[in-house]
Amino acid sequence: MFSLSSFGLAFLALGGVVSSASIPYNSPVSRNGLARRQGCTHGPDDRGCWSDGFDIDTDVYESWPNTGRVVEKTLTVTNVTCNPDGGPAKFCQLINGQYPGPTIEANWGDTLRITVVNKLRINGTSFHWHGIRQLGSNEQDGVNGVTECPIAPNEQKVYEFQATQYGTSWYHSHHSNQYGEGVVGTMIINGPATANYDEDLGVLPLTDWYYKPVFELLWSAMRVAGGPPPSQNVLVNGTMVDGNGKGKYQKLNVQKGKTYRLRFVNTAVDHLFHVSMDGHPFTVIGVDFVSVKPYNTSDLAIAIGQRYDVVFTADKDVGNYWLRVNSGGGACGQAAIYGGAPNNPATVVGGILSYEGAPTANPNSTGITTNVTCIDETFSPHKVIPVPSDTFAAVVEQLSVGITPANSPIVNWLITGAGLNASSMNVDWEKPTLDYVRDQNSSFPTELNVIELPSINQWAFWVIRSAIPVPHPIHVHGHDFWIIGTGTSAATIPTGPGGLDFTNPMRRDVATLPAGGWLLLAFPTDNPGAWLMHCLTKGTHIAWHASQGLSLQFLERKDEIISSIGDLEGEYDRTCASWKDYWNMPSREGVDEDSGLRQINNPPVPGKQRIGGGVKV
Ligand SMILES: *[C@@H]1O[C@H](CO)[C@@H](O)[C@H](O)[C@H]1NC(C)=O
Ligand SMILES: *[C@@H]1O[C@H](CO)[C@@H](O)[C@H](O)[C@H]1NC(C)=O
Ligand SMILES: *[C@@H]1O[C@H](CO)[C@@H](O)[C@H](O)[C@H]1NC(C)=O
Ligand SMILES: *[C@@H]1O[C@H](CO)[C@@H](O)[C@H](O)[C@H]1NC(C)=O
Ligand SMILES: *[C@@H]1O[C@H](CO)[C@@H](O)[C@H](O)[C@H]1NC(C)=O
Ligand SMILES: *[C@@H]1O[C@H](CO)[C@@H](O)[C@H](O)[C@H]1NC(C)=O
Ligand SMILES: *[C@@H]1O[C@H](CO)[C@@H](O)[C@H](O)[C@H]1NC(C)=O
Ligand SMILES: *[C@@H]1O[C@H](CO)[C@@H](O)[C@H](O)[C@H]1NC(C)=O
Repeated sequence: MFSLSSFGLAFLALGGVVSSASIPYNSPVSRNGLARRQGCTHGPDDRGCWSDGFDIDTDVYESWPNTGRVVEKTLTVTNVTCNPDGGPAKFCQLINGQYPGPTIEANWGDTLRITVVNKLRINGTSFHWHGIRQLGSNEQDGVNGVTECPIAPNEQKVYEFQATQYGTSWYHSHHSNQYGEGVVGTMIINGPATANYDEDLGVLPLTDWYYKPVFELLWSAMRVAGGPPPSQNVLVNGTMVDGNGKGKYQKLNVQKGKTYRLRFVNTAVDHLFHVSMDGHPFTVIGVDFVSVKPYNTSDLAIAIGQRYDVVFTADKDVGNYWLRVNSGGGACGQAAIYGGAPNNPATVVGGILSYEGAPTANPNSTGITTNVTCIDETFSPHKVIPVPSDTFAAVVEQLSVGITPANSPIVNWLITGAGLNASSMNVDWEKPTLDYVRDQNSSFPTELNVIELPSINQWAFWVIRSAIPVPHPIHVHGHDFWIIGTGTSAATIPTGPGGLDFTNPMRRDVATLPAGGWLLLAFPTDNPGAWLMHCLTKGTHIAWHASQGLSLQFLERKDEIISSIGDLEGEYDRTCASWKDYWNMPSREGVDEDSGLRQINNPPVPGKQRIGGGVKV
């Protein structure tokens, strides 16, 4: 049925070539057959231009500039105390002593070489570069238990990968609950854009903030029926005022008449946010790592892991205006600072847009009342890449089956209590999936939740449905996915291609599975590797999701993984050897409390209770 890959067919129809592998990266012709622009200059009046042969029309899955430039950075994780909103101090785990960690900035096509140093006493760490495709570099994906062993205390590891896409993203620890404690930072990959602007203001990461350690909250969340605990506050770029007026607001300084680019990232462990700016609507130009046809909105819903790049013009009276960061309502997270309502009249949650020449004072501007929803934005990618509907039709009858057998291009993942054959994912920190791949060992323990995708350049379709009234942000590693359809009721799950979007589907790397609804995702198997597909909520929320099996790994083109990487000697083997030494040391402090995916001992008990550990999903 799938002897001729549909991905190949798409190329044949459009570009006259057979597979993605045969298109040279510096080809003067992009997938849609258009010659790329030469000789233009990227700047305020021509943001669509980038460099010779590369512009906003370039198909980023097929080509990117090989700049040869290497951006180097060292990120050191330490155990300190912090109180970013002026509230009570707690132990936190920070990168280079700051929250959030430093922004990594590079140009499209640059290589990033990042050294991660673990200075924690009793925790490993591993760093994931969210949204980076890691084509041919699966072992740099930073998922301990899947693509690496954790980095042991007092050890370090060098990650190296190329930025083949551009836009805004974030990086974070994938070790247990760590990112909720502060092990998180942002990334800017400069490239072309679909609208012009004068200046780039940079990234504003948004997060929920807890006064208790997230490690501790995980345990209480497990015991309480009815959902995760509320956060105490919300941080905008690592700062906010607290309920007592301590702390400070993040300020955005602008000049009247100029147009600005601003990049939002939701780095929370639990909350979805709505963002607006009084008197200053946004023009959205980028969603995750995908450039989009510009659209205007005064309210943006941003789920965990999602990014929105916007432009706006400072065209109002010189003054101060509130940037508002509000809640989507109880189902997608509550912070005490909101005082029980999405818009708290007592304390504005957010930041300040401040014009040059305005007095130093909090704004008195009024703004929209946030729409209380837990649903994603809708948009159209600038670069149209259709999905062939014929392969979908060929397998559509499998949609009604529960979890389909391994090797199927369609996976129906029923979340209620079942997951993959009722198995919630768990991994072994000491034996990552790449060990199995290298050993050619296919005896995966059930709890690794492995689904094999052996076909080459085959579109894989996934139906994910939620039978519970809570939304889940679903993230896929190693791929952007195409959202063929989504709905808020199981009754509307499609049984055929009718009503689905194959023409210009939304494309991104995190999408919200609506409460009680479904998502239909597709991506081509063009990137050999062991990749996670998971619910991107960590810390307190994870327990609920993970215990429902909300995570799996797909093993894409297993036989090609090791050759695509080169080999695993070097950083991979060295990190595993030092982790095993650390983890099996009789005098090791700390507890083996959770796999990062599900709770093991409650309350946690000292010493090594079981093998393994895990990724946090
Ligand atoms: C951080 O330091 C505190 C106080 O010494 C200690 O209790 C805790 O275990 C440390 N955490 C880590 C991850 O090293
Ligand atoms: C976020 O904070 C950092 C550190 O203070 C600052 O350099 C950066 O400009 C801030 N970002 C924005 C968009 O203001
Ligand atoms: C967005 O709003 C701006 C300012 O009002 C306007 O110039 C522009 O045409 C609008 N863009 C779209 C895509 O509607
Ligand atoms: C709020 O939602 C309503 C109804 O869905 C919609 O008409 C309106 O445009 C939304 N407002 C904003 C600011 O997005
Ligand atoms: C709001 O503040 C500005 C100064 O930024 C002031 O000129 C104006 O009168 C204030 N408006 C109200 C309604 O208080
Ligand atoms: C789920 O169970 C079916 C039937 O027993 C089996 O064929 C399949 O391999 C299992 N899938 C996984 C991922 O364990
Ligand atoms: C394959 O992996 C399983 C599970 O870890 C292990 O029990 C078995 O010994 C391995 N087989 C080989 C040949 O290494
Ligand atoms: C990691 O550090 C946290 C915070 O100090 C602690 O609660 C947790 O038990 C540690 N995990 C391990 C495996 O030691």
